[in-house]
Amino acid sequence: LERYIDSKDGENTKPFTEQTAWEDHQIAKASLKFGSKNKKQSDDYNFVFEDQIEFIQGQFMGGENVDDHKEEEDERSMAKSVHEKLLADRKTLPVYPYRESLLQAIEDHQILVIVGETGSGKTTQIPQYLHEAGYTKHGKIGCTQPRRVAAMSVAARVSQELNVKLGHEVGYSIRFEDCTSDKTVIKYMTDGMLLREFLSDPDLKSYSVVMVDEAHERTLSTDVLFGLIKDVARSRRDFKLLISSATLDAEKFSDFFDSAPIFKIPGRRFPVEINYTKAPEADYLDAAIVTALQIHVTQPPGDGDILIFLTGQEEIETAEEILKQRTRSLGCKIPELVICPIYANLPTELQGKVFDPTPDGARKVVLATNIAETSLTIDGIKYVIDPGFVKLKSYNPRTGMESLQVTPISKASANQRAGRSGRTGPGKCFRLYTAYNYYHELEDNTVPEIQRTNLANVVLSLKSLGIDDLVHFNFMDPPPSEALLKAFELLYALNAVNKFGELTKLGRKMAEFPLDPMLSKMIVASDKYKCSDEIISIASMLSIGSSVFYRPKNKQLHADNARLNFHTGNVGDHVALLRVYNSWMESNYSTQWCYENYIHVRSMKRARDIRGYFSQSAKLQKNGSYMKVKNPQTVFIHPSSGLAEVVPMWVVYHELVQTSKEYMRQVSEVKPEWLVEVAPHYYQVKDVEDLVSKKLPRGKGRASKD
Ligand code: CDP
Ligand code: MG
Repeated sequence: LERYIDSKDGENTKPFTEQTAWEDHQIAKASLKFGSKNKKQSDDYNFVFEDQIEFIQGQFMGGENVDDHKEEEDERSMAKSVHEKLLADRKTLPVYPYRESLLQAIEDHQILVIVGETGSGKTTQIPQYLHEAGYTKHGKIGCTQPRRVAAMSVAARVSQELNVKLGHEVGYSIRFEDCTSDKTVIKYMTDGMLLREFLSDPDLKSYSVVMVDEAHERTLSTDVLFGLIKDVARSRRDFKLLISSATLDAEKFSDFFDSAPIFKIPGRRFPVEINYTKAPEADYLDAAIVTALQIHVTQPPGDGDILIFLTGQEEIETAEEILKQRTRSLGCKIPELVICPIYANLPTELQGKVFDPTPDGARKVVLATNIAETSLTIDGIKYVIDPGFVKLKSYNPRTGMESLQVTPISKASANQRAGRSGRTGPGKCFRLYTAYNYYHELEDNTVPEIQRTNLANVVLSLKSLGIDDLVHFNFMDPPPSEALLKAFELLYALNAVNKFGELTKLGRKMAEFPLDPMLSKMIVASDKYKCSDEIISIASMLSIGSSVFYRPKNKQLHADNARLNFHTGNVGDHVALLRVYNSWMESNYSTQWCYENYIHVRSMKRARDIRGYFSQSAKLQKNGSYMKVKNPQTVFIHPSSGLAEVVPMWVVYHELVQTSKEYMRQVSEVKPEWLVEVAPHYYQVKDVEDLVSKKLPRGKGRASKD
């Protein structure tokens, strides 16, 4: 706190970790000077008031003001049901007055670029408008998101707005998790999942409209989708394509998509006061926490919530712990501070908390990764704290080394972040870097992911889609040729392509796995070494996306000892992961076991779900139904599956759903010998041999080519 208290007092020099710094008289000293717009006065603080984003709210709805908002809010809170309130809320979004003209523009043009600030209602409303206008009569509406959390939370929100069960009319699909059904007409999914759908449905026949959302993020999958989906639009005149973006540089998208028209949704933004630190911060995490606490104790509760941008799960967990400690020691001396973390791997059941309204008299502090920059809108944020960093993938094609590095953000990002504070009223943004940093050191825009990542996975996918000439593939910004070359080198080393760059049989098998080529190869190759059981466990553990080891601050020694137990005999980390998985399995998937061994039970459950994937197979019966190979039961291919008409002999499926029949959903054709090959622990030759020995009648599915 002392860092921001009037430096002339000079007595507050104790490090912040000492809780004594939090005695009453010191809190009392924290003045309200944050609110000051007097430059000279605020020079006493680390933050310098620098500039103000102009007030453009008047553009919209004829100069509505903050008080109108309040009145509306009061009125709405009287609405009887939550659903009525949601319906009313829909009409207050900036996109709402443009509903008709937007639908008209979509009617008139096959491809439309839509630009509107974050929170204007693009993601949640446009698919609903299309549904209401009848576009779902002839296919689904797909909406892609760069992040899984966004896909899930937006789908949940829209299903509430439509008053339907999540997974019915509105669903989502992310890697290793499919929450859709044959009823689903609005489908949110990660851009990577739509890319995988191209493998089974290259014309995207099941969709009438696809909205590539958050296009400005330029993720690898989004960039690859651009090239593929442009062809779909050319070959299917009945198909509508929407490209939506939160930033204003939409011309680039328009140029790429044959000069598609740009539809702008005017924003509704309040002024945002930008403050910079006087000197660079040595420890931005500490600075962010201190700033948040200072805002909390000096500003009246209820005037607005705080959003802090951090770089990742670990940092967020650390910040959460420190904030908890410090607020706990203050007890009832300060108003309640509700701490809400949000990051990609946060378990689904905890994600909702961030959207819950802040209780009366309390303040919410949201600790978020870049996900809150444009993908998610959290209402009620008045203060943004921006340390100026993001964790970005970087790739060195020379060494083949890929790493996640904490990198300074771009100017475009900094402005998006600041804008998060001015959605419902005037906001304030505290940049934990200097104005000089901002103007002279930050890049204008973030480099698109395709230019800073390992391309092996993309090359393998595109190859299996039959795209041979990758050098001339229609990329919006082509990847460095060195990186393409390196990807081919790796795939060649893995035997996935031959020396002519053509996909091998092995490569085709590998492309079927929704995994990094190294992991797919590991699984396919494990058969030779008779260790598929073990390898599948390890691959599942590696695919969780976060560590399974839990290391609480106050019990680090115990946690480290527990971890060492899995390393007995100095085995490597992979074998340790395998031991964790097997021991957990032997404990009958016990939660207690996880607690005792300092293991994240949620991560383990996720690993088990991922591993389950390999055990679900079925074979075709004479009458057209399928019989599960293990635990025999009659099942059918779900009508929404791309293979529903193909009727392959052997399939694996992601899950069984009971609607009018027992349906297998997310089905892929396999060869029976693959089952034995991939999971010899699970499938014996006798399970499949009666059919292997005969010549199988083949469907016209893709897998029949090899
Ligand atoms: O896509 P865009 O940024 O234009 O806006 P949106 O995500 O459709 O959000 C529109 C409104 O829905 C925002 O005001 C959010 O508060 C609300 N929303 C929500 O409450 N919960 C979600 N999971 C997503 C959106
Ligand atoms: Mg959005």
